[in-house]
Amino acid sequence: MSQFPKDFLWGAATASYQVEGGHDAEGKGLSNWDVFSHLPGTTYQGTNGDVAVDHYHRFKEDVALMAELGMQTYRFSISWPRLLPQGTGKVNEAGVKFYSDLIDELLKHNIRPMITLYHWDLPQALQDKFGGWASREIVDAFDGYARLCYERFGDRVDLWSTFNETIVFIGMGYFTGQHPPKLNDPKVGIQACHHVFLANARAVKSFREMKINGQIGFVNVLQPNDPISDSPEDRRACEFAEGIFTHWLYDPVLKGEYPAELLAMAQQAFGVPEFHPGDEQLLKENIVDFIGLNYYKREMIAHNDDINGFEMNNSGQKGSGRGLGFKGLFKTVRNPNGVYTDWDWEVYPQGLTDAIGRITHRYGNIPIYITENGLGAKDPIVNGEVLDQPRIDYLRDHIKATADAIAQGADVRGYYPWSFIDLLSWLNGYQKQYGFVYVDHENNLARKKKLSFDWYRKVIESNGETL
Ligand code: BG6
Repeated sequence: MSQFPKDFLWGAATASYQVEGGHDAEGKGLSNWDVFSHLPGTTYQGTNGDVAVDHYHRFKEDVALMAELGMQTYRFSISWPRLLPQGTGKVNEAGVKFYSDLIDELLKHNIRPMITLYHWDLPQALQDKFGGWASREIVDAFDGYARLCYERFGDRVDLWSTFNETIVFIGMGYFTGQHPPKLNDPKVGIQACHHVFLANARAVKSFREMKINGQIGFVNVLQPNDPISDSPEDRRACEFAEGIFTHWLYDPVLKGEYPAELLAMAQQAFGVPEFHPGDEQLLKENIVDFIGLNYYKREMIAHNDDINGFEMNNSGQKGSGRGLGFKGLFKTVRNPNGVYTDWDWEVYPQGLTDAIGRITHRYGNIPIYITENGLGAKDPIVNGEVLDQPRIDYLRDHIKATADAIAQGADVRGYYPWSFIDLLSWLNGYQKQYGFVYVDHENNLARKKKLSFDWYRKVIESNGETL
């Protein structure tokens, strides 16, 4: 007997900037990433998504592979500047047509689309015009964009999420500076994050007002944080980490309010987030229908009075990163007993079960989709075959961990490995592979099924029984 409900959804995920290419095709406007990735020193060896894996032109071939894999659902994101080159105003009908055709192609193969409205590619025009997320004007702009998507695609799509991983695009965009707009300014960052929560609430409100037949959720990183020791200092540091990484980002969308203690601290230290009349009510009245969880790793946390900032391993050379630290609060440290990937991410399947338990404990038994989970690796090619056995092992253990969470009562409804196909990693180029399908960059971006492709096909076919 399968441990998964019979209507459980098996899928896979991607994001627009990472697969589409066609960065200026047929009237698309530039995104912040189109500009940022061309600045010297911002990405791994200057890689960018100008062409990516050319999904824009090859989507039919890709959907045929999804069908062959047996995917029941596909999570992808819409590029806002492809639909609205200036962020607001005139619609680029060619962009609408691309997504409309993609949706039709998916439905033709019985693959249910899940749309993410914002997976980090902001219209550059809005960054230039008013500073993007730093300005309250973004809330109206995002709502207009969301409404356009509901209008054009809401007749055929019933699974939606507003945002992907606020911690990453706000944290790395405004606090540590590795993503656009490359700031190190907590005051601006905290306010920008508030605008994301408001934009989410407005888009959820519009979704309901427009009576779109479906569910709308929010996607967050799921990161269990555990203290490196039992000392009161490390435990307190870990509470901070859990508060910032989890409660700050989940409470506003699942409870409609900020965690009180952290809110008071932020307002005292930085004078933000600044609320306008109506903000509290907007958040309170527009809780999402489900939460999407992106799980890759756990973090071990220690007390910190030395490190400030974030040094990432973006090369795949084990041990080359230094982790993240907020001086006086906490830092991430290596688990001496942990198993790590070449990018220094701890492989810890139990963390997925534990972290889902923490979510349901705090927020009740809300519907959950695992919207990303996967192993980034340089896959070996032997006699022309891509032998990604470590990926199979990783996914198997995490699917078991998901089954354990379900057995403990969690309402997990679907699983989307990251990623369907090898794609551009924002800061790690094309060398950090996640897909079931390999893309040959030396040979006209030809697609090739990996060992994991056939394995996952059987997982889906057996509803998670054959692992
Ligand atoms: C998530 C993102 O953070 O992790 C994806 O939603 C991303 O867009 C994935 O690609 C893996 O991260 P990375 O840095 O290994 O590519």
